[in-house]
Amino acid sequence: MTFEASLIVDRDFDLAPLDRRLFGVFVEHLGSCVYNGIHEPGHPTADEHGFRGDVAELTKELGATIVRYPGGNFMSGYNWEDGVGPKDQRPRRLDLAWFSTETNQVGTHEFMAWCRKVGIAPMFGVNLGTRGPDEARHYLEYCNHPGGTALSDLRRSHGAEEPLGIKFWCLGNEMDGPWQICQKTPDEYGRIAKETAKLMRWVDPTIELAACGSSAYDMPTYGVWEDRVLEHCFEFVDYLSLHSYFVKPASDTSTESFFAQIETNARYIEDTVAIADSVATRKRSTKRLKLSFDEWNVWYRARHGEHLKQAGWPEAPRLLEEVYTAEDALLIGGMLTMFMNHADRLKVACMAQLCNVIAPIMTEPGGTAWRQTIFHPFAQAARWAHGDVLRSVVKAPGYANARHGELPYLCASVVDDAATGQTAVFLLNRSLTDEMDLSISLRGLGSGREIVLAEQLHSADLHATNTADAPNRVAPEPLAGIAIDGEQLRVTLKPASWNVIVTKAVRA
Ligand code: AHR
Repeated sequence: MTFEASLIVDRDFDLAPLDRRLFGVFVEHLGSCVYNGIHEPGHPTADEHGFRGDVAELTKELGATIVRYPGGNFMSGYNWEDGVGPKDQRPRRLDLAWFSTETNQVGTHEFMAWCRKVGIAPMFGVNLGTRGPDEARHYLEYCNHPGGTALSDLRRSHGAEEPLGIKFWCLGNEMDGPWQICQKTPDEYGRIAKETAKLMRWVDPTIELAACGSSAYDMPTYGVWEDRVLEHCFEFVDYLSLHSYFVKPASDTSTESFFAQIETNARYIEDTVAIADSVATRKRSTKRLKLSFDEWNVWYRARHGEHLKQAGWPEAPRLLEEVYTAEDALLIGGMLTMFMNHADRLKVACMAQLCNVIAPIMTEPGGTAWRQTIFHPFAQAARWAHGDVLRSVVKAPGYANARHGELPYLCASVVDDAATGQTAVFLLNRSLTDEMDLSISLRGLGSGREIVLAEQLHSADLHATNTADAPNRVAPEPLAGIAIDGEQLRVTLKPASWNVIVTKAVRA
């Protein structure tokens, strides 16, 4: 069966410039993300720092723009001093976040070298679990102060003459969570976030700071946490964080409900904006806080259970190695359209994580690296979404969802790049059974258009995965049959498919 749908945008109805930091990722000292992931000194492709060349190439292909580091939960027990200076003098420590042994062979300087290698901006975090404002200001001084103080000269003595220039800092991680090393109440965290932010800005006024929101939308303290934390630190921070991992509860494993998490997370963003703006109103402030969705992904298979607490404090154990399906890739695509459609307040987002641990890139020690299914929609969006997000008007039939009511089968976003004349359209057909006969009106974007790229990601088997032996089972293919008439495109989208169409105006 085929159904009709339409998507209309207008050049004059733009939402906001797209912040390219929406295509961020996350590297935590967790499992085999760093060690035996991005870093494996004995690997045939490793560079002088021990970073794998094949993983670096895939990271570049993924197109990630910013990377959050060094945690996650790891951040709340981390001593930054352990990870600088001569490697043979660095201490081995128990990591209480993941019950592993941390060797500290990768630290600030090695990670910054990796960032430069792959051309990605750093987003660092400070430990507000076991530590506090004093260590945070010292870490920032070590990293960003030009020289002439004990800490900045220590950095220079470690080979970094110039400041590292780390501009984005997270004030702790998931401080509301009982699993966190030194969980805090919102008042405890709000106060410490404020004082830490104050000191850090005095050290380097050019930085941007993100305070921890709740660790999930369904935390019992969601809302109250945001309100109380911002009561303390609203004036001192630029961003509030959101984290979300998409699950399939045993009570409802349907794909339709899985895809409805796009709307759940849209509400999460909109509710968080509402809370931040109500704090602004209470404070008689015109400031509008920005959001940083700095952990997001599908994560429900390799999640719970005793495997998280390994006996014997192993080094780089294989942990949280979620194997992604075609169905997951479709949800990731839909989430990206939703993120783009909130570009007015959402400025940063980090897929969690990058390598091996709930990740788009997988590796075998000493062996190959490959792209998981979710790699593809991320890479396509990161490559083609430049410019202004236009307001999408979608008309499509849909399906009923218990939480959100009627949901359209079509999820879409449109980003127009005035600099290149290219307009990128991102489309998810959520119908599992029917083709979508879609008309796309690109009003005011030029009446003659040529196709720059048209790709679809579709698998007859929604459970299909990519593996070391079959790394390209789920991958984008050409999308044929696009008819162009003036400002109008017409295309048929397969059921359960993710599609990217980039066109360029040849006439004004
Ligand atoms: O990404 C894995 C973990 O999930 C992070 O360390 C933590 O912040 C979140 O709970």
